[in-house]
Amino acid sequence: MKEKVENLKYEALEKISKSENLKEVNELKITYLGKKGFINDLTAYLKELSNEEKKEFGKVLNGLKTEISEKLDKKIKYYEEKELNEKLNKEQIDITLPGVAIPMGSPNILECIIEEVESVFMSMGYDVVDGPEVEEDKFNFELLNIPKGHPARDAQDTFYLCDEEILLRSQTSPVQARTMLSAGGNIPIRMICPGKTYRRDDDDATHSHQFMQIEGLLVDKNVSLSDLKGTMDIVFKKLFGEDCETRFRPSYYQFTEPSVETDISCFVCKGIGCSLCKNTGWITVSGAGIVHPNVLKNCGYDPSVWTGFAFGFGAERLAMLKYGINDIRTFYNTDLREIRTFDREEKDND
Ligand code: DAH
Repeated sequence: MKEKVENLKYEALEKISKSENLKEVNELKITYLGKKGFINDLTAYLKELSNEEKKEFGKVLNGLKTEISEKLDKKIKYYEEKELNEKLNKEQIDITLPGVAIPMGSPNILECIIEEVESVFMSMGYDVVDGPEVEEDKFNFELLNIPKGHPARDAQDTFYLCDEEILLRSQTSPVQARTMLSAGGNIPIRMICPGKTYRRDDDDATHSHQFMQIEGLLVDKNVSLSDLKGTMDIVFKKLFGEDCETRFRPSYYQFTEPSVETDISCFVCKGIGCSLCKNTGWITVSGAGIVHPNVLKNCGYDPSVWTGFAFGFGAERLAMLKYGINDIRTFYNTDLREIRTFDREEKDND
C-alpha cells in the first residue's frame, strides 16, 4: 500500500509540475482531491485496516493530501497571476488616442425663447404662473366676455371634450381670469403664463393644432395704453436688439378695449422691406389691449377703480422669427439631424 501511495505522490507531483495552464491544474485538483478523486479512494481503504494500521496510514494519507494541495495551490496562484498579467498587458489603454465624443443634449429652442421672455418679465416683477390645459368654457370664454353663441368663438376652432363645458384651452387667456379670481385682493397683479394651447387647425408651415402662447396680465390703478406700449418696447428690444422699434395697430379682441396688434420693426431689413416683413418693414408679434371692464367685473374687480393691460404672444412665432425657422412643425419634429442645426446656430450666435 505504501508503495501505491508513493507512486501516486510521485505521479501527482510530476503532473502538477508539468501542467501548462490553469485549466490543467484545476483538472488535476479534481482528479486528486475531488470527491471521487484518488485520495478519497484511498481513504475508503482505511475501513479495512486495524486501528493501529489506520493510525499510521491515516497519517501518510494526510501528509500526501497536504503536499499535493500545497503544490496545486501554488501552481494555481502562479497561473492566475500569469493570466492576469497577460490580460493587463493586452488591455493596456493608449491615453494618446483621441477620445470618443459624447453628443451633448441641448434645450429645445422653443423652451429657450420662453425662458428668455420669462426672464425679461421677471426682471420687471412679473410672476410666471401656470394654468390647466383641460379648461372650462367659463374661463376660456365666458369670463373673458365671450358668451355662448358669440361669433368671436368661431375664430378659435375649439376642441371640446365630453360636452360643451369642458375643452382643450384654445388660448392662454383663461389664466388671466383664474389669476384675477385667485389674487384675493393682492394687487398689483403682474403675471405671465407660458403654456400649450389647442385649436382644430390643419397643420401646415404656419399652423399647428397644438402651439404655445405666452399670456401676460397687469392689473393696477391708472394703467394706460402707454404702459403697455412701454412694456412691449422693453421686451422686444431685449429679444430682438436695442434698435428694435414697436408700434401698435388697432385691432379687436373681445376681452380688451381698446385692442391692438403689436408690430416690431423688421430686424432683418431694418425697415427697408424684405421677404420676412413682406416688404412692409414691420412684423406682427402679439395681440394686446386694455382689459375690458366686463372682464374686470366678471372677475370681481370694480372697473371704476381698477385697470389693466393684457397681451398674448405666440411662442413659436417668436422663436421662428428669432432663429429664422420657416415651418412651425420643426418644433415638434423629433429628427435630431434637423434639431441639431439649431444647436450650431445658437453656438454661432454666441
Ligand atoms: N388670446 C388671443 C389669441 O389667442 C391673444 C391675445 C390677444 C391675448 C389680446 C391677450 C390679449 O391677452 O389682450 O389670439
